This record gives sequence, structure tokens and C-alpha cells, in this order.
Amino acid sequence: MNSGTLLPGPDLSVTVAGLRLRTPVMTASGAFGYGREYAGLLDLSGLGAIVVKGTSLEPWSGNPPPRTVETAAGLLNSIGLENPGVECFLENDLPWLSGLGVPIIVNVVGRTAAEYAALARRLDGAPGVSALEANISCPNVKEGGLAFGADPAVAGDLVTGMRRATRLPLIVKLTPNITDVAALARRVVEAGADAVSLINTLVGMAIDPEAGRPILARGTGGLSGPAVKPVALAMVYRVAAAVTVPVIGMGGIWTGRDAVEFLMAGASAVAVGTALFVDPEAPLRIAREIGDFMAGQGYGKVGEMVGLANTGFCGRRPESWADRPDQEGR
Ligand SMILES: Cc1cc2nc3c(=O)[nH]c(=O)nc-3n(C[C@H](O)[C@H](O)[C@H](O)COP(=O)(O)O)c2cc1C
Repeated sequence: MNSGTLLPGPDLSVTVAGLRLRTPVMTASGAFGYGREYAGLLDLSGLGAIVVKGTSLEPWSGNPPPRTVETAAGLLNSIGLENPGVECFLENDLPWLSGLGVPIIVNVVGRTAAEYAALARRLDGAPGVSALEANISCPNVKEGGLAFGADPAVAGDLVTGMRRATRLPLIVKLTPNITDVAALARRVVEAGADAVSLINTLVGMAIDPEAGRPILARGTGGLSGPAVKPVALAMVYRVAAAVTVPVIGMGGIWTGRDAVEFLMAGASAVAVGTALFVDPEAPLRIAREIGDFMAGQGYGKVGEMVGLANTGFCGRRPESWADRPDQEGR
């Protein structure tokens, strides 16, 4: 990649929780479906990783409409984790996804801790699954989701069950709807998480004054997009100072500079969600912009920036893919 007569450009590759990513920019769960919708809109093989929609054991129908509303600087959604279930995913989506040559991270969700463990067992060894991301932080469902993620002890037990059920790298997605996100992160790492990702959406609502009632059928929803970025950044900063495993940062990332802020707060990689609805090529553009920033500032590897702005950063900086002894030809 960086060979030839030209001066080598910055190396965007990173290894996070054993996953080798071409760039540190992945898609955030729920904003990218199972990838097919985007196939004609961007070169999927240029993504760092694809994180698919929250997937449950059985099909879930989600919440009644309206399920989304735009706000001044963000998006409120209450999709309610509609998905066709893990068997449909394995049969219809995974074979296609696994041909893309990009790590596939399956975001999983259940109504009970036993369902999360069963999903981990079912996906363990499925050809093409690179890692699991346990969504214990969805604010839009009555059972499961946030019910697990707001209590460190409950979250820890859930992760212990999943850890026993799979050897796949296990990422645990944390909620911002909690006072002490660092304590939650420490507990899930003790229980076996290989990485943590944050933030999921912040609980919010919008009201239609003429109708005199909330716009979303469910009343409240989850806020994402630029409005949440400063909150997300502060939480990533706190968590990166509390755990030694990699942190995957997300929340309102729109530009390469936004992504660099997350990296400097201590994230080893980032995910892009809401920006995809405006610019389907956002993850590729953001990766290019990170590269431009690195070139301008004289950074050679992403890992040189990770945790730079965080005085308490205690994680390991991500290795460059090229540095790994087992690297295959690129
Ligand atoms: C429409 C929509 C659906 C989402 N569905 C999921 C989901 O299924 N599982 C999950 O873990 N997060 C889900 N999220 C949260 C995003 O993955 C991400 O954590 C959050 O939106 C913050 O990032 P962003 O501001 O870049 O969108 C969803 C977000 C949106 C906007």
C-alpha cells in the first residue's frame, strides 16, 4: 500500500481487539442495515468494518410509527430494534457480507441475559463473523437493551454469560444514560469484554405543540448526530482513562476532525451512524480526512494520536496492521 517511489502516506490501518481494520472508521449499528442498501452508494470494501443492525434470536417488529424525527442538531429515533432475526441474517445476509473482505461485527440484542448468550453461541464460528457487539444500551425497547446496560452488576453477569458462549472478540456497547459510565466499563471488562463501544443514543423527545402530544409514537426516543458529540467525547475520554481494552468511539462524528477528536480522547477506532443518512459515503470521506490531517500534522500511524489529549489514558495504542508479525500481503 505504502510502497513505490512516492513518499509513504499515513498508515490508516489499525488492529483493534484482534481485528485488522483498513481504516479506523466503521459503520455504526442501525444506520447501515445489513449493508446491501448501501452497496450501490459507496465502495464497501473501503470501510474499516461493518457493524450490522441489532439482531435478536427471533424476528422483532419494532415500535409503531412515527419512529424518527429530526431535531435542531440531530435525529431522534425509536425504531425499537426491528430486525429479521439471527437465522434470517445467517442465511440471507452473512454469506453476502462475508464476501466483501471487510470485518463483519454483529450487533446483538436480547430480552434476557440467556438470549444474549444463546446469540453468542449461535454466531460463534459462523463463517464470516469477525466479532460481536452486545447492545446493552438501546433506550427504545421495554425489555433488554438499556434495562441491562444501566446497572453494572447486571451488565457484568450478562457479559460473563456471553463470554462463556463464544471465542469471538466481544465488544460491549455502553449507554450514555447513566451517571458513572467508567464504573460500567470497568465491570464489563472484568467480565470478559475485549473492547467497549460508546455512545449509544441519549434519551430525548420532541412534542408537536398543535397536536399537544409527543411526535414519536412511543413518546421518547434516542438522540444521535452532532448534538450528542460533546457528550460522547467526554464519555469516551472518561472510559479510556478507566479501562485498558480498546474503546470504539461514536456519537455525532461527521468529519475527519471529529474522528480525530475521538481518537485523541482515547478511542482506538470510531463508528459513524447518523451522518450516513446525509452522506452515504461519510465513512470513506472521514477516513480520507483523517489521512489528510495526519499528513498535515506529520503523524505516520493512527496509534500515535490515540489518547494524546487524555492525561489519564491507560489503554494500549492500536498497532498498525503493517506492524503485525502475522500480517498478510495487502
Ligand atoms: C436509526 C438508528 C438506529 C440505531 N439502531 C441501533 C442498533 O440496532 N443497535 C445499536 O447498538 N445502536 C443503534 N443505534 C445507535 C448508533 O449505532 C450510535 O450508537 C448512535 O446513533 C450515535 O452515533 P451517531 O451520532 O453517529 O449516529 C441506532 C441509531 C440510529 C440513528
